[in-house]
Amino acid sequence: MTIAPARRAAFDILKRVETQGAFAADLLAALPGSMDRRDLNLATELVMGCLRKQNQLDFLVAHFSGRPAPKFDAEVRVALRLGAYQLRHLDRIPRSAAVNDSVSLTRSSGKGSAAGFVNAVLRKVDSSPVKWPSGAVATALPEWLHARWLANYGGAATARLADAASRAPETYIHVPAGRETEVPEGAERTELAGCYKLPPGAGPGPFWIQDIGSQALVPLLELSAGQRFLDLCAAPGNKTAQALEAGARTVACDHSVKRLHAVQSLGCPLVALNAERPLPFAGRPFDRILVDAPCSGTGTLGRNPEIRWRLQPSDIERHRARQVEILTRALAVLAPGGRLVYSTCSLEPEENEAVVRQALMRVGPSFALGRTVQRLPGREPGDGFFAAVIKSSVPRSV
Ligand SMILES: C[S@@+](CC[C@H](N)C(=O)[O-])C[C@H]1O[C@@H](n2cnc3c(N)ncnc32)[C@H](O)[C@@H]1O
Repeated sequence: MTIAPARRAAFDILKRVETQGAFAADLLAALPGSMDRRDLNLATELVMGCLRKQNQLDFLVAHFSGRPAPKFDAEVRVALRLGAYQLRHLDRIPRSAAVNDSVSLTRSSGKGSAAGFVNAVLRKVDSSPVKWPSGAVATALPEWLHARWLANYGGAATARLADAASRAPETYIHVPAGRETEVPEGAERTELAGCYKLPPGAGPGPFWIQDIGSQALVPLLELSAGQRFLDLCAAPGNKTAQALEAGARTVACDHSVKRLHAVQSLGCPLVALNAERPLPFAGRPFDRILVDAPCSGTGTLGRNPEIRWRLQPSDIERHRARQVEILTRALAVLAPGGRLVYSTCSLEPEENEAVVRQALMRVGPSFALGRTVQRLPGREPGDGFFAAVIKSSVPRSV
């Protein structure tokens, strides 16, 4: 039996996300441009929907089959989730198409012995309300993250965060000053200068796509022409590009040589380095530094839904330790009177306030914490971000 191209593509991507640690957004972006637009849209809906609702779909499969989903082989798990998602969430897909394609995908992936089971379970999945076994499943979050957000943010905010994590984020573009006449039709100006929201399905025109939360960070640097600016964790260069508009003399660094390739076209000097080690800029301090640190990414779950199933509580501590090192190294090359912005797209205080506190304790009294900003998905538009401004004091003249 032929399998619809969108379901075949979604199955292959979900299997790679499940078994190879791949990122769904990257695999979706790599689907052939020759694919029919409607198939691309359906594949995206299926992949992102299955990942956003994963523990609910596993619960439904267990509920209707009497067997816990993790006991299945990956191919069977993915075929069941794919079928259950369509049956519960997509009312324009015929039931027979959803069930039959999941059965065929099970067979064609070499798991023919489970095809009868997949068929029997999916035929039982209906849209009747179910009682979720916990608040975490009800909000489609892992138990530990749900408990952590409840403790840190309370019930109402956790519900908002979970709701934002279960939806596709809106798309924003960055429009440099003076190019407003080129803004694509239908794009809406936002409260942030240069940031426009695209209507669903619209292309970015000549501009690049950048989340509104991400665009809100660079203005905190208060950059001006001629300043020496270090972008320490720069790849793929979204914020570097935005910073270059101010005319600062910019150096962009990253640990990943591969990821730095994407920054090459911006034309500023690039340095591949590990920012957890002493930085090679002694005697040449920077007026402005951005530390857009590697982090857990819990502020971006709507965009990267698989993160929540991959992250472990111990990852937060691992990130925190690395972030403290990077921030401490960065402060060592901040010029007197300079300004550094530390940012993450994490919602976890250990990666945010705690990192800043610990690094400031290490470097001593010549640095002071300025403004901190937190954007929470569901409260502010876009992804979640944290930013702290740190200023270095000007030495008194003798
Ligand atoms: C949040 S991303 C940066 C996003 C970027 N600022 C932008 O706006 O496009 C974090 C970056 O830190 C880099 N990174 C991770 N560990 C690092 C380290 N020890 N030293 C320098 N860069 C590191 C990663 O390769 C990644 O590109």
